[in-house]
Amino acid sequence: MLSASTPLFGRDEALADIERLLTQERVRLLTMSGAGGTGKTRLAGAAAVRVAAEFPDGVSFVDLSAVEEATLVPASVAQAIGVQESGSEPLQAILSEVLGDRAILLVLDNFERVLGAVQFIADLLGRCPRLVMLVTSRQSRAAAPARRARAARPPATGAWSGRD
Ligand SMILES: Nc1ncnc2c1ncn2[C@@H]1O[C@H](COP(=O)(O)OP(=O)(O)OP(=O)(O)O)[C@@H](O)[C@H]1O
Ligand SMILES: [Mg+2]
Repeated sequence: MLSASTPLFGRDEALADIERLLTQERVRLLTMSGAGGTGKTRLAGAAAVRVAAEFPDGVSFVDLSAVEEATLVPASVAQAIGVQESGSEPLQAILSEVLGDRAILLVLDNFERVLGAVQFIADLLGRCPRLVMLVTSRQSRAAAPARRARAARPPATGAWSGRD
């Protein structure tokens, strides 16, 4: 899912930017937004491969393109990292425990489908200090008209480091 069989064109600068933000600048939540087909998944995959060595506990790709509800995002993350639900403990708590202080990169692809899961994402980042997320989205709900107007451009990035 992360590596592609065809060459990646014209994204050297974007890849270098993403690498710098996720490694040197220690950004913990990086979003890439853009219209459908502008190359978000492709760029996220290439970026994940490029920074993989910085995440010794692994890189996981969470495909949200077929997920219908925000409440299903924890299960999607669990499936991607190979975690099973057990007993009565809520899945979110299990995920926090399993991810713990591991240095893991989660790529959340097509987050526009599950914008309601933003609190789950924020909580998980808050509980897991070395967890990093690279998120792609066709649009954020608040910025939808502006993003639509810029549909022909390559994915835009937004970063959150969790430090302020
Ligand atoms: N820089 C690139 N070089 C070569 N091929 C690319 C590049 N960017 C995207 N592509 C190709 O264009 C197609 C669309 O890209 P991609 O699936 O990444 O778009 P997307 O923004 O994720 O779309 P969606 O919002 O529908 O998920 C794919 O076949 C992908 O391999
Ligand atoms: Mg995509």
